[in-house]
Amino acid sequence: MSEKAILKVKGKEIELDVIEGTEQEVAVDISKLRGQSGVITIDPGYKNTGATKSAITFLNGELGILRYRGYTIEELAEKASFLEVAWLLIGGELPTKRQLNKLEKDIKNNQIVHERMKKIVEEFPSTAHPMGVLASMVSALTAFHPTTLNPNNDNKEDYLNMVKLLAKLPTLAAWTFRKNIGRPINYPNPKLDYTSNFLYMMNSCPNSDYKADPIVAKALNVLLILHADHEQNCSTSTVRIVGSSNASMYASVSAGIGALWGPLHGGANQAVIEMLEAIKADGGDAGKYIAKAKDKEDPFRLMGFGHRVYKNFDPRATILKKYADDVLKALGIQDPILEIAKSLEETALNDQYFIDRKLFPNVDFYSGIIYRALGIPTDMFTVMFALGRLPGWIAQWKEMRANHEPIGRPRQVYTGYTERGFVEMDGRKE
Ligand code: SDX
Repeated sequence: MSEKAILKVKGKEIELDVIEGTEQEVAVDISKLRGQSGVITIDPGYKNTGATKSAITFLNGELGILRYRGYTIEELAEKASFLEVAWLLIGGELPTKRQLNKLEKDIKNNQIVHERMKKIVEEFPSTAHPMGVLASMVSALTAFHPTTLNPNNDNKEDYLNMVKLLAKLPTLAAWTFRKNIGRPINYPNPKLDYTSNFLYMMNSCPNSDYKADPIVAKALNVLLILHADHEQNCSTSTVRIVGSSNASMYASVSAGIGALWGPLHGGANQAVIEMLEAIKADGGDAGKYIAKAKDKEDPFRLMGFGHRVYKNFDPRATILKKYADDVLKALGIQDPILEIAKSLEETALNDQYFIDRKLFPNVDFYSGIIYRALGIPTDMFTVMFALGRLPGWIAQWKEMRANHEPIGRPRQVYTGYTERGFVEMDGRKE
């Protein structure tokens, strides 16, 4: 017998079920509330509202815990490959050697994108933001893979659709970058692993024998793993709600890319670097920018700080802070903005404003510094986030479909005019 919650409202008492997850999270189930009482709840930004039950990712914001299917992010970042983590998130278990070999082979066999899509990407102006191009190209994939349009939740078909998307997104991302800098569009190299092929796709030139630095490829593997899923964040919730209308996996992921683009979400990694560059150009005075972030009259926010869930450290930021040091040292790079970032963090973590609001560095605070060291241009940082988050989006989309969740359609409380009569033109006032 589940525990009950009693809601007293408008002279009525409503009994609601209380549910508890495997990590002792507790929720009041209001799925029948309106039917029982005519009353709804309201929660702008869904800060206190769960959209679903999920078995994919667990995070504890107070303790700074992040696990994919029960495995800690620390272990996965150190011991797994990105495709192993993709399989884990989507399939629920770590792949066997046979399963991983098959996934890697299927991915290599699907990295080529239809020739006609080259023409589409080449038609974008070189000033187009890569996230806008990527969202458009993922949506365009449905035109070349029409079987993805009518998902019948058949696992075999879903597997093929997933493999095609995991295989082609790096190709599309690299094409977006190359077109913007006037580099000829190239083709994947099936002899290379996932991250080395992406770096090859980004950096190879007709007259150069480009080989990805293994340090860079390994760092990229860790970055993609750290971004692979994060339960019901803004872009994942977008993918789920678009998919809940029975829209295809590709249409849902294209919408997720749009949501991720926002500077309050995945776009923060680009905004962090732009902020650090601005602080450097302004003499490197971290204190001045901390003051701006605290000033309610100033719209400036300390990008890369704060998080809806983590009210303690973001475990990904902890791993990335150490990684930033290691990668820059290994590549022999002295990046002054890393020192500015550290002094900003130091100052903020000792400032009462940030302490009171539990504002700590999040995943975006250090990721941009590493991407920059890896030679990734700033306007491609959020594209890197999307490449990492893709398996999470796919896993969450599949879970929503497998659970036959209803179409997402929130209610509202209306606060506009009550009924009023039509006003003829000559009766209207400026
Ligand atoms: C990601 O959800 C996820 O899981 C996201 C993500 C993932 O993996 O998918 O983790 C990835 O999106 C990380 C977040 C990246 N965004 C940024 O770094 C942008 C800067 N951070 C903020 O804008 C903000 O912290 C959010 C958007 C991340 C969270 O905002 P909330 O939870 O809505 O909190 P809030 O805006 O209500 O802020 C609470 C208070 C406010 O002050 P008061 O009104 O109480 O006085 O904290 C202040 C805010 O002004 N505040 C900040 C701040 N973040 C919050 N003040 C200065 N600088 C900041 N960065």
